[in-house]
Amino acid sequence: MPDSTDDQTVSWRALLAETTQLIGDSAHARWLCEVASSSPSGDEFMAEIEQSATIRMVAHLEAMVARYRAGEPLQYVLGEWTFRRIELAIDQRVLIPRPETEVVAGVAIEKAAAVGPTRTVADLGTGSGAIGLALADELPRDGTTVWITDASVDALNVARANLAGLGPAARNVRVAHGSWLDALPVDQQFDVIVSNPPYVAIGSPDVESSVTDWEPAHALFAGRDGLDDLRLIGAAAIDRLHDGGWLVLEIGADQGNALRELMAAVGYDEIEIRPDLAGLDRVALGRRPPG
Ligand SMILES: C[S@@+](CC[C@H](N)C(=O)[O-])C[C@H]1O[C@@H](n2cnc3c(N)ncnc32)[C@H](O)[C@@H]1O
Repeated sequence: MPDSTDDQTVSWRALLAETTQLIGDSAHARWLCEVASSSPSGDEFMAEIEQSATIRMVAHLEAMVARYRAGEPLQYVLGEWTFRRIELAIDQRVLIPRPETEVVAGVAIEKAAAVGPTRTVADLGTGSGAIGLALADELPRDGTTVWITDASVDALNVARANLAGLGPAARNVRVAHGSWLDALPVDQQFDVIVSNPPYVAIGSPDVESSVTDWEPAHALFAGRDGLDDLRLIGAAAIDRLHDGGWLVLEIGADQGNALRELMAAVGYDEIEIRPDLAGLDRVALGRRPPG
């Protein structure tokens, strides 16, 4: 990196070239530079690429590059990540929101949007707030109530910070701490309950070390077969849904058959397993039979 202590005239073009060389990934280098330069968008960064960086900006970039080179995931280093239409602040207290979870949120939005004139939905294990805040953002402002919950106080603090940045839709969101359905008021029924719970089997060899080394274990692992939390939620949610209400769950690619059986045994109907963008089984949904 150029010396940041006595040279204030280094341009972003030079910093971008140097960062790319240091980390060996031009797309990631560009993201790091965009965040370090406080550019509101990639286009604005490119429009100002000949501008000089300030000492503070160079120091910020250097700190991020050091973290990245130590193996920390890009998303934590940046401290922000886009999920559907919203920008989320994230750090190691929460799972990095995944593209496949955008598909899960889309299914929950589809089911909730079909209910009216009012709809009450819950996102259990909200982490950064990704699914629940996307629901609040994309469902009609009038008549929508979204509950977001987590058993982790740390995660809820991140979700609350993201809620504060959501804008007018934030008025429709309620936050609750506790384990799965127990977090919710006992007298409240829901039109849609959605969750991306932990679903990785303890000791699974399929999880990359960048995940186990950096992301919170309480967001990942769920017993010997990965199904512990899916079983708990599947069993408890049916009594908290309105007649005809939907449960929407993110699952592992090899858990589709297990979820079909599990949801049928509990009494859901119209059970479906839908794929993610990579064509892998990713969403299990089922309906509480209409009364
Ligand atoms: C896979 S992460 C999903 C986070 C977020 N919904 C997303 O999709 O990015 C699972 C979340 O469930 C939370 N969690 C784990 N056990 C829980 C429990 N018993 N009750 C509620 N939340 C729990 C974790 O703290 C974590 O935030």
